[in-house]
This record gives sequence, C-alpha cells and structure tokens, in this order.
Amino acid sequence: MRIVVTGTPGTGKTTVSKILGDRFKLPVYNLSELIKEEKLYSFYDRNRDSYAVDIEKLTRFFADKDNFIAEGLVAHYIPCDVSVVLRVNPEAIQERLKERNYNEEKIEENVEAERIAFCATEAFENFEGQTFLHINTTERTPEEIVNVIIEGIERGGVVEEIDWLEG
Ligand SMILES: Nc1ncnc2c1ncn2[C@@H]1O[C@H](COP(=O)(O)OP(=O)(O)OP(=O)(O)O)[C@@H](O)[C@H]1O
Ligand SMILES: [Mg+2]
Repeated sequence: MRIVVTGTPGTGKTTVSKILGDRFKLPVYNLSELIKEEKLYSFYDRNRDSYAVDIEKLTRFFADKDNFIAEGLVAHYIPCDVSVVLRVNPEAIQERLKERNYNEEKIEENVEAERIAFCATEAFENFEGQTFLHINTTERTPEEIVNVIIEGIERGGVVEEIDWLEG
C-alpha cells in the first residue's frame, strides 16, 4: 500500500506517520529529509532557507515502490493508493510552531495556510481516484488519529467537514 500524509507544518504528519508505519509495517519516508539526502531538489532557496523540491525527481524516486508511507508538505504529488490530509485548529499550529522557535512571519504564514485549507485544497486538486482521508486531528491523540486513518481506509475514504473560517 502506498500512503501519503500531508498537512500544514505542525499538524502532526511525522508523529502520526511513525505510529501508522508501525501498525502497517511500512517504511516511513520523511520527505524533507529524503529530499536533502537524495538531492530531489532543483535549487536551494536562500530566502526561505529551504530546498525547492523537484517534483519529477520526487515521483521518480517512488515510481518503483509499492509499499510506503511518505509524509511531508509535498506528499500529495506522489502517486498513491491512500491520500491523508491532517488538519488542526490554527491555534494549535501557532502554539506548536512557537515552541519550535519559528519566527513570527513563518508562524503567521502557516497559521493562515491552515485557516484557508491551503494543503487540503492542493491535495484535492491532485486527487486521482485514490482513497481520500481528510481528518480533523484537533482534540485527538496521535493513536486515535491512526485508528481513524485505518478505519477510513477500510471504509474507502473519510472526508470530515472542517472550516476554520466559520464562526
Ligand atoms: N494529535 C496530537 N495532539 C497533540 N499534539 C500533537 C499531536 N500530533 C502532533 N503533536 C505535536 O505537535 C508537534 C508537531 O508535530 P509533528 O512534528 O508530527 O508535525 P509535522 O506535521 O510533522 O510538522 P512539519 O511539517 O513541520 O514536519 C509535535 O510537538 C507533536 O508532539
Ligand atoms: Mg514533520
């Protein structure tokens, strides 16, 4: 099974994917590490202090792999059987990124990205008929989220309604 896990920074992709990898006995690829290790980038973006991923190199890396979990911001570009989008209340993003000592601008950018469902929208736009899971992780433990994912896969998909702009 090929599973990709995406979501705004701080939504819990790495935490959840590790547990999911144990449950399914699947290797877990952290995409930001992989992109650096395997040089799957086109250039280093000095302004953002990050590597600009080369989507073609990324998809080529996974092309011959049938069983994996790939987790990261660009995971939804990888052809897969199951696409997971983790969502969380933007206030949690703010707290979690503050703990990581991200600067104000970067925190605000990511809080806003979660508010407007940036990652989820991109994942929907890349939808190609795979099992789709859109999960509100707020007030769920990582273990509970993994159970929601496993049940969701069995049911052929779950799209929880989430609108942080409401109310
Ligand atoms: N369900 C949860 N409930 C409470 N805290 C959580 C939950 N999931 C993750 N966390 C905490 O939130 C923080 C961010 O989690 P994690 O590093 O897994 O996010 P990420 O999506 O991988 O972020 P990034 O995109 O930056 O790699 C960590 O401190 C983690 O312990
Ligand atoms: Mg992570």
